[in-house]
Amino acid sequence: MAFTQLIDEDDHQELSQDTKEFLTTLPKNKGWRTRHLYLFQGFWCQAKEIQAILSFQQHFRAQANDIIVASIPKTGTTWLKALTFSVVNRNLLSLGEKHPLLTSNPHDLVPFLEYNLYANNNIPAVSDSTSPRLMATHVPFQALPDSIRMESGNARVVYISRNPFDTFISIWHFMSKLRPEELGPFSFKEAFDTYCKGVIGYGPYWEHMLGYWKESLENPDKVLFLKYEEMKENITVHLKRLAEFLGCPFSAEEEKAGVIEEVAKLCSFENLKELDVNKNGKSIANFENKHLFRTAKVGGWRNHFTPSMVEQLSTLMEQKLAGSGLSFNI
Ligand code: A3P
Repeated sequence: MAFTQLIDEDDHQELSQDTKEFLTTLPKNKGWRTRHLYLFQGFWCQAKEIQAILSFQQHFRAQANDIIVASIPKTGTTWLKALTFSVVNRNLLSLGEKHPLLTSNPHDLVPFLEYNLYANNNIPAVSDSTSPRLMATHVPFQALPDSIRMESGNARVVYISRNPFDTFISIWHFMSKLRPEELGPFSFKEAFDTYCKGVIGYGPYWEHMLGYWKESLENPDKVLFLKYEEMKENITVHLKRLAEFLGCPFSAEEEKAGVIEEVAKLCSFENLKELDVNKNGKSIANFENKHLFRTAKVGGWRNHFTPSMVEQLSTLMEQKLAGSGLSFNI
């Protein structure tokens, strides 16, 4: 029997024969936005992502000063991309109304390694002309290419995490908008149980966080670990941390001139959400940017969780994060 017949995916046309054969060997589970998620190298992924990640792992060579924005989906990736881009390129602030963030979505300014650069069988040409290179990934730390993870390498990774309660609600809303009708229903209860089993894109979430968390403790010059809630509470402090980590701290003159506040305002939810490019534009394979901006609230989960869900997820997180020193103030 042909392998294509063995795989009941809808979006397999673009996959190589090797990938299709490989998929038949992997455990799979019902997916959120695709028919299935596959367990690949210990984390859950869509079919197309697996092909791109294999290529990324095989071909990517980190260069000195590379900056990688890392996250699991729905934890603030868009925000961190905007902030990182603005901090690194803050000379562009002088452009005022011509600043790239005012006409481009952050995902177009900081491309994903697995959705843009290595997607669809691309192997991008390596160029160091625009150092530092800014790129992003959802891939867990353990599965990143050695050239990024190498302690001696100069690539730096900034990671954003978010409390698992709001993250679930954000994923749930996102999926509800984007799940193709032909895949049939996926109830809130089923989604929650699936999330608690660890079956989300690039999950389990706790393993994803812990991978980057542990590295940030062992190798603080390699990984900066940020928390969405803390950034919402005091963006100035975290912008300073980010700039210092990236080797371009704000000078006293910049602080005095209000550059930190300017970056924070430019990248704020309120500002980005209202821009035409983010209301009506598309990025990453025809994806409508408006879906990336919902409420950006901390604690919105309270409107959705029953007491038993709170109990279940709290207990799970306590177990999974025990002894790591990582916790979330919810
Ligand atoms: P909500 O769904 O809770 O509103 P990601 O960028 O990883 O997909 O994360 C999306 C979440 O970040 C959404 O959360 C979205 O509203 C929020 N978000 C988007 N832009 C933001 C910004 N500039 N500042 C803070 N949060 C932002």
